[in-house]
Amino acid sequence: MPQQSKDPATLDTQAELRLAESQIATILAIAADAIISLNEQMRIMVFNDGASAMFGYTKDEIIGQPLELLIPERFRATHHGHVASFANSPVASRRMGERQEIFARRKDGSEFPAEASIAKQEIGGRRIFMVVLRDVTERKRAQAVLARANSDLERRVAERTRELEAEIRRREEAQAALIQAQRMEAFGQLTGGVAHDFNNLLTIVTGNLELLSDATENDGSRKLLKRATDAADMGAALTKRLLTFARRRRLSPEILDLNELVLGLMEILKRSIGEPITLTTMLAGNLWQTQVDPSEVENAILNLAINARDAMPNGGELIVETRNVVDDALPFDGGGSEFVLLSVSDTGEGMPPEVLERAFEPFFSTKEPGRGTGLGLSTVYGFAVQSGGHAVMRSELGKGTTVSLYLPRAGAAAATETAQPAETVPLSEQNEVVLVVEDNAEVRELTLQRVEGLGYVALEAESGPAAIRILESGEHVDLVLSDIVMAGGMSGYDVARWIGANAPSVTVVLTTGYAAEEARHDPMASGATPVLRKPYKRAELATTLRDALCNGRG
Ligand SMILES: Nc1ncnc2c1ncn2[C@@H]1O[C@H](COP(=O)(O)OP(=O)(O)OP(=O)(O)O)[C@@H](O)[C@H]1O
Ligand SMILES: [Mg+2]
Repeated sequence: MPQQSKDPATLDTQAELRLAESQIATILAIAADAIISLNEQMRIMVFNDGASAMFGYTKDEIIGQPLELLIPERFRATHHGHVASFANSPVASRRMGERQEIFARRKDGSEFPAEASIAKQEIGGRRIFMVVLRDVTERKRAQAVLARANSDLERRVAERTRELEAEIRRREEAQAALIQAQRMEAFGQLTGGVAHDFNNLLTIVTGNLELLSDATENDGSRKLLKRATDAADMGAALTKRLLTFARRRRLSPEILDLNELVLGLMEILKRSIGEPITLTTMLAGNLWQTQVDPSEVENAILNLAINARDAMPNGGELIVETRNVVDDALPFDGGGSEFVLLSVSDTGEGMPPEVLERAFEPFFSTKEPGRGTGLGLSTVYGFAVQSGGHAVMRSELGKGTTVSLYLPRAGAAAATETAQPAETVPLSEQNEVVLVVEDNAEVRELTLQRVEGLGYVALEAESGPAAIRILESGEHVDLVLSDIVMAGGMSGYDVARWIGANAPSVTVVLTTGYAAEEARHDPMASGATPVLRKPYKRAELATTLRDALCNGRG
């Protein structure tokens, strides 16, 4: 048989074709993606190993079957539409599942998310479709986990930022409150000292005026003396306010319902703020009782209302509010304390920061001379702090001001003491002997005169040791009237203690211009020894001496 020589060109083409076929077969075999081809009727012609692994069909099962089998039922209808539109479109290939999620269906009916590329080709008038499909379950899961972690992180960062901001704010407030408290403390000490000296002077002035008035028959002179006494009384009222601020004023706390107190004040409030201002109350039901000096609370509310009125020359709203507060976030409080909040708000002009900062200071006023003493808010502040509470002020220019008093919730039981001087002046009954112990010569002189004026026999000592010398000398003494703070190394308390130990039959009455020093020095005398507050009236002196002597005897 003659060697049939083949056309070398044909030989090459066949070899290349085989090569190409084997390459394609290998690619189909090793590809992890599913590679599927479809005929014009959308029946499956090629189904590689990757597709078998992905869908769970063997080649035998699936070849010749409609593509439909690989598509979840709920998408089949729309899928038809997509295929038709792709078949008729001029583009040769298209990617699916990138922008819009697509799903494929396994033999067992389960679904998985997929991405696919689809291409069409026409060979010899027949159209075929090729699909490469990738299972993106893992990627989607990783993305979801990442997204969740991200949003979790964002949430936690936001949360922590908020916490830190709150903490910073709390610290700033606490710091500001501390600075404010220290300033007020310094002012308090200063003012308290001045007021104390003033009290002594006023005691002398008032007392001498009284003596003069008793001694004169002349009506004209009496009128002048009356005027002088009135002025001295005003001075005394002023020092009282100063002592409240300096927290050295004797308070008479009572257990009371602030709501009742506020309601009782409404008439006066309305009258003092005038027509163009509306007065609103927001009083909490079930308000706790508080323990404060009622007349000081009334003063405070009136002071605040008048400030509010002055801040609202064209009218506005004044709101008095009460509320129970248990607050761990109060800048001045360690946390957990219970307060009854009393706040007075206005819709007035508000304060610029530099005024707000100083408004609690004594004598700070922006009002024209004669209209404001600048003692209103400082008195309110001092009262709140001395009562075991606090005062806080917020103000915004053009919007208004709120002053909040945090007053202590009343404990279980607390004694209330109010010593009212009697109307008529009781005189000495048996010319008892009173030893006046006072280091200030003028005050001593006045006191001696007053004591004698009441029918007692008066002795004097300029210090504690001097008083003790008299007592030791055997001189008869019924009552020792002693100042508390004295030069000479002994306080009134020391004198009282000495008497308690060495001359128990002698009655002791103490006098003072302070309230604070009692708290410091009063371990023994809680209530047992009567204390006269300077400046006192003759009537108060008379009653106190009389009562003390009666009790001493009784
Ligand atoms: N409700 C308020 N609105 C705007 N500013 C206020 C208010 N309350 C107080 N102030 C400012 O604080 C200052 C001090 O007030 P404070 O009550 O201590 O004194 P005053 O009202 O000036 O005088 P006083 O009360 O002794 O008559 C005021 O002069 C005012 O500038
Ligand atoms: Mg005022």
